[in-house]
Order: sequence, then structure tokens, then C-alpha cells
Amino acid sequence: MRIYKVGGAVRDRLLGKPVTDIDWVVVGATTEEMLAKGFRPVGADFPVFLHPKSGEEYALARTERKSGRGYGGFTFHASPEVTLEEDLIRRDLTINAIAEDDQQNLTDPYHGQRDLEARLLRHVSPAFAEDPLRVLRVARFAARYATLGFTVAPETLALMRQLSESGELEALTPERSWKEISRALMEDQPQVFVEVLRACGALKVLMPEVDALFGVPQPPAHHPEIDTGAHTLSVLQQAALHKQPLTVRWACLLHDLGKGLTPEEEWPRHIAHEFKGLKLIKAINERFKAPRDCQELALLVGEYHTHGHRALDLKPSTLLELLQSFDIYRRPQRFEEFIAACEMDARGRKGLEERSYPQANYLRGAATAARSVAVQPLLEKGFKGPELGEEIKRERLKALKAYKETASI
Ligand code: CTP
Repeated sequence: MRIYKVGGAVRDRLLGKPVTDIDWVVVGATTEEMLAKGFRPVGADFPVFLHPKSGEEYALARTERKSGRGYGGFTFHASPEVTLEEDLIRRDLTINAIAEDDQQNLTDPYHGQRDLEARLLRHVSPAFAEDPLRVLRVARFAARYATLGFTVAPETLALMRQLSESGELEALTPERSWKEISRALMEDQPQVFVEVLRACGALKVLMPEVDALFGVPQPPAHHPEIDTGAHTLSVLQQAALHKQPLTVRWACLLHDLGKGLTPEEEWPRHIAHEFKGLKLIKAINERFKAPRDCQELALLVGEYHTHGHRALDLKPSTLLELLQSFDIYRRPQRFEEFIAACEMDARGRKGLEERSYPQANYLRGAATAARSVAVQPLLEKGFKGPELGEEIKRERLKALKAYKETASI
């Protein structure tokens, strides 16, 4: 039995990056031998085990053959005869197909080290096509390593295009896709993920609503970058630069979907795009079964981002409606995330990245003013039920009027 480190742990050590989890491949062993050594099996048909002490994953060297569509359509062949080279050739990228023994000797039959040097994400073999999720994985690695200068090899992009056009991506489960999307959005350059998906035709399949934004113009006075797709990518890039959480990044990606529905004769204006976009945001949220907090924020940002930008001009009554829609009293964090998404939207414009966004503090101040209305004195005055609700609203409106006057001095 021979044991090697494989995958991300070897790749990231060679790149000088921190290694978080280690995957191992075991050559020349049977399931029975693994069980006898105290390894715990993971899943029924999958030849993967957890180490009894470290809990790290040990997989028996295996070959994979595709027997049908999607991820379910695999047969695994694991046996002590499967060689290290045979195991490595069925992996996704050459840089992920390097094995390392306990003396740090590398086995690198597919030239992963050469591609690490050349900063290339290149598939190992035609077996790449056996798992369509790899289209998203490559785009995610491109987003992660763009800062180091990595790009996708042209022949890999061509294969990704074939996969995208073949209809295979539609067989991916929402859970697997979301896992890749959410990880990619949290990378340093999440906009590269979207760019790579677009370049290989996968964006049109996975998120046609986002794909449709490219080529749609906006008024140059507000949007010097003009193109709505380019703007969306810049907003996402700003969100990463400002270390925003996943909720905000997801909302940034989806905030302008309505602009893709504007009839050409109305270009470059996008009347009511905030409302028109809601059904698209809902559809994409549901397609990937995004977590509830991501879904909610994306819808709220879609509907209200223009309110955010116009905050200083909003009437107190409109401001109050905005605050009520966010339920700022019970969900203060969500309102902060909304403000962040609006700010990223404003900064995601060519040449305006550094411009200050006074709306942010103004909105925070408005929320504080509305929250300052105490309910207890109103209860003591005898207000109850719907009347109490109305009275609270009146008091909040009063507080917002006072706030608007002082804040605009
Ligand atoms: N792998 C693959 N195809 C997939 C998933 C995984 O070929 N669809 C292989 C790759 O060799 C990969 C290894 O399994 O390096 C481990 O997979 P995983 O832990 O998902 O990714 P890592 O490469 O370790 O990357 P990350 O840093 O993103 O976890």
C-alpha cells in the first residue's frame, strides 16, 4: 500500500499558499485492508475513507467511467491494480494532478508543475468532460488565482465550451452548482468567475439573466463604463475589494437584472428596472436554491438600490417605507448589507471607484432616528393594536423629518 498527498494540498504548497485540507490517494490497497487499519468508509459505493485520527480523506486510486448523464451517471473502478498515473489522469486540471509522497517526491506525469510555472489552468485529459461541474470549478480556480496571473488554457476553454453547448450543465444539481458559485463569489476576483463562464458559453446556460446584461447600454453620464455587464462585473469586484460577505456579493451580481429586459428602443434608460428585475432574481435564486439570507437580500437590493442612491432626496415618508420594508428594528444587519451593496453599486462605475458615498451614513442615521422612537410611552398613553402601530409610525415619521432637517444642514 502506497499513500500520496494529491490535489489542492500539493498545488497550494507549490504555489506557496496556505494548505487547509489534505486529500490522500492510496495505491495498492483494498477496501478490506483500509477497514482493517481502522479507516471509516464514507458513503456506500464511493472508495473514500476517513483517517481514524486526523479525519482526512483517503481515496483508493480509481478510474472513473461515465455511464450516464450528470453526476449520478458514474461507475467507479477501484482496485489494488489501479496505478497512480491512472488515478491522476481522470482528475480535472494538471495542477491538481500532482502526487507527493512522504519524502516530498513529486509524481507529475501530466506536467502540473510546468503549468504552475506557466500560470495555466489546463485539463489533464478528455476525461475532464466526465464531470460537467468542472466547468464551474475551472472558472472558480481562475477567480482564485487570477491575482497570481493564471488564465485558462485555450484548449481547456474550448472543451468547456463543448460541454456548455452539449446540454450537460443542465444535469448539475442546484446544490453542487451553488457550492461552486458561492465559493467563487468569495474569491479575490469573483468577476473573473463570471467572465470565464461567459467566455465558454456556460453563463448563457446557467445564468442567462446575467449573460443578457452584456451589450446593454446605460446612460454615460451616470455610468461611464456604459455596458451593464461590465458594470455588474465591476460591482462584484468592488464587493471583493471591500471584503463583503456572500449575501452582498450575490446581491451585487443580481441587482440590475431588470436592465436586461428593457426594450431596445428605450435604451440607454431603464425605467422601472428595479421592479422588472424581481421575477428574474427570484428565478435565479430558486434555480440554485440559494440560502434564504442570500435570496432575501438580492430581492431587496434589486427593488430598492435606486432608493439607496437617492437617499438624501427621499421624502421622510418614502424613507420610512424603505426602513419598514427592511424591518430595520429586528434585522439591523440586513439593512447594513443593503447599504453596502448600494455603495458597491455606486463604486462599480468606471472612474468613480473612489468617490465617497454619503448616502451610507445618511441611511444609517435615518435608521437610528427611526429606532429611537420608544414604544413604552405610547403604551402608557393607552394606545393598543392597530392604533398603536399607526402611532408608532407617526412618531417615526416625525423623527425622520427632524433628522432630515438636521442632517441636511
Ligand atoms: N477533483 C476532480 N474533479 C472534481 C473534483 C475534484 O478532478 N470534480 C480532484 C482534483 O484533483 C482535486 C481533488 O480532486 O484537486 C480534490 O478536490 P477538492 O477538494 O474539491 O478541491 P481542491 O483541488 O483541493 O481545491 P480547493 O482548494 O478548492 O478545495
